[in-house]
Amino acid sequence: MSTTLAFDVYGTLIDTNGVVDLLEKFIGDKAKAFSDTWRDKQLEYSFRRGHMQNYVSFAICTQQALDYTCLFYKKYLNDEQKKELMAIYAVLPAFSEVKEALLKFKEKGFRLFAFSNGKKEAVEKLLTHAGVIDLFLGVVSVDDIKTFKPSPGAYAHFLRSAETKNSESWLISSNPFDVTGSISAGMRSAWIQRSSEAIFDPWEIEPTITVNSLLQLTEKIK
Ligand code: LAC
Repeated sequence: MSTTLAFDVYGTLIDTNGVVDLLEKFIGDKAKAFSDTWRDKQLEYSFRRGHMQNYVSFAICTQQALDYTCLFYKKYLNDEQKKELMAIYAVLPAFSEVKEALLKFKEKGFRLFAFSNGKKEAVEKLLTHAGVIDLFLGVVSVDDIKTFKPSPGAYAHFLRSAETKNSESWLISSNPFDVTGSISAGMRSAWIQRSSEAIFDPWEIEPTITVNSLLQLTEKIK
């Protein structure tokens, strides 16, 4: 069977910094820092929920992380502004090379899936908005099993859903936690180092392959 590629969504296909412009309007020059804290907290909340086995959707983690970030920066956004920010989160843009890279992977015969901590409907909406939904065989969400990546159960759920196995698939992510998580669960994994400043966790687990963009990966992966 041809090789299956599991693409992480937020940060890998979809640019979570897409909220910065609107944040600038609301809070001025702290917008980028605010966006980074919001993203870090969103992930932390999902990890903690996973550990606690007290699942709420990724969208709730995002909403609660936004509330936290407002408190942290002492920026008291009103409900309308928060609603606008959450609405943008639902239509964040794809990174510029995504469509071309996915088309190349598809031409080469790979089986493409999106695999996310986000709910299926949210991910489908983002990928539809980005004009790439038709390139995927499916969207797999951890919401089905009420936990989050990097739980090993999440990766096992992906393999089951995509009807593939470790030796015939890759997890592709710009999120180091996802790369280490998938390798720890027995998959191969490509780290997309989207910026030279992005740091990979200095653990004993290394990415199977590191590239700077998805397009570069199309030349490297078989
Ligand atoms: C995703 C986030 C965690 O799973 O990047 O899409």
